[in-house]
Amino acid sequence: MSVKKITTNTLLKMKANGEKISMLTAYDFSFARLFDDAGIDILLVGDSASNVMAGNETTLPITLEQMIYHAQCVVKGVERSFVVVDLPFGSYQSNSEIALASAIKIMKETGAHAIKLEGGEEVAESIKRIVSAGIPVMGHLGLTPQSINKFGSYVVRAKEDAEAEKLKRDSVILEQAGCFGIVLEKIPAILAKEVTENINIPTIGIGAGKYCDGQVLVMHDMLGINSEFKPRFIRQYLNLEKLIKEAASQYIADVKSSDFPNEQESY
Ligand code: KIV
Repeated sequence: MSVKKITTNTLLKMKANGEKISMLTAYDFSFARLFDDAGIDILLVGDSASNVMAGNETTLPITLEQMIYHAQCVVKGVERSFVVVDLPFGSYQSNSEIALASAIKIMKETGAHAIKLEGGEEVAESIKRIVSAGIPVMGHLGLTPQSINKFGSYVVRAKEDAEAEKLKRDSVILEQAGCFGIVLEKIPAILAKEVTENINIPTIGIGAGKYCDGQVLVMHDMLGINSEFKPRFIRQYLNLEKLIKEAASQYIADVKSSDFPNEQESY
């Protein structure tokens, strides 16, 4: 049976019909396949791969080539979900020509369906150029981790009027530039509500409250792979850290005691 694939039109219709959009990050084939089977609407090959896959403190070091590798792996695991790939830091900020070249490289080499980039008015020209080339673009406002050195910390953004007003203006600019959706990260729920009601494209929240059109979480956070990282916006659905450590300890014990492999596990 053929699967009905999610497209940007599906996502726009979901907003119009009040149907919430589910989004998770994925960085490899195996998890992408599981999340796709489970019915996730959007898979984000996030530059959070820099943190959770490569062990870097920030998202800044990950390269375009490394993002392409992760995206290629994810795309192979997907039948139905819409795959969005982050443009990494340094691959689009210089000018719109470089931004377009990076977006084209991702689309050509991965088979993903869209790209995401961070920022408002300052990246509008790049968004227009990428959209004109036929590439769907998702925006990202609020806490934009590629600007962590400017912010100085990962605290909630846009609590003050001036920043909230800029964020509202930016959301309209991103919609007008042609974005099909916007991630709103770590902003007050009431501001996310205002933005969501004011634009026709879906908002996907992470730490932005319940009024967004959809929600996204980093897979490692919601699966409980790193129990040290627990900001209040994360809902942990599994304690995979505990389960994996228990399984690994049992395996080690079985090997050490010569319990593994047994007769049935041997040829
Ligand atoms: O890179 C990422 O995982 C993201 C999400 C936090 C939205 O951009």
